[in-house]
Amino acid sequence: MTRRLRLGVNIDHVATIRNARGGAHPSPLRAAELATAAGADGITAHLREDRRHMTDTDIAELVTGIALPLNLEMAATDEMLAIALKHRPHAACIVPERRAERTTEGGLDAAGQHNHLAPLVERLSGAGIRVSLFIAPDPRQIEMAARLGAPVVELHTGPYAHGEEGALAKLEAGAALAASLGLEVHAGHGLTFDNVGAVAAIPDLAELNIGHFLIGEALFIGLEASIGHMRQLMDEARAA
Ligand code: PXP
Repeated sequence: MTRRLRLGVNIDHVATIRNARGGAHPSPLRAAELATAAGADGITAHLREDRRHMTDTDIAELVTGIALPLNLEMAATDEMLAIALKHRPHAACIVPERRAERTTEGGLDAAGQHNHLAPLVERLSGAGIRVSLFIAPDPRQIEMAARLGAPVVELHTGPYAHGEEGALAKLEAGAALAASLGLEVHAGHGLTFDNVGAVAAIPDLAELNIGHFLIGEALFIGLEASIGHMRQLMDEARAA
């Protein structure tokens, strides 16, 4: 039987809307509670260096306030390492970060940054935090992630979501390679109701992390319905 695919709901953009007015509404914590009720398997939040959406207080509240495991997305910096070690989320996903970017654009250069990433992976793992590396589905990056000792890789689905030719085949091959190296394989970025099916059908994937589309769609059909429908599409793709 095919494994059930987990859904991690990224709630960053609840904070984006809140920050547009600088108050406390809408609350990311409340969104996380609703996501839990709607069948999410985990909550993902990215504490960016510029704090453009999630704040330090949000992370503190999420770590203690939710029943689901928290996946903290973080840049590979000393500041973020210290924050992760302080809060000890269930998981940390290391992402590349450029201040001028609108969202995480490329994957992490695990191969080129080996010496910078190795101690970070070791410190996080030593604190009992499950580390994942957000990388392109490129064999060199996947092999280096395995050598770095990260137990999980998250494959960047952005090129697939943008309709890049051959991107789905690269995801399928990347997921198979990562799984063969003993890695748990996640995927995410740019997934929507329309494009999630082909990714969810990749048998080697264990988890998808989805944010922007779910929060945007929640404006029209509500957060629980948005998450519930995504869950249903993932389950149908797996069952097919
Ligand atoms: N996974 C990672 C590592 C990300 O950085 C993001 C975006 O924050 C996502 C998944 C979710 O992408 P989206 O918001 O486009 O669904």
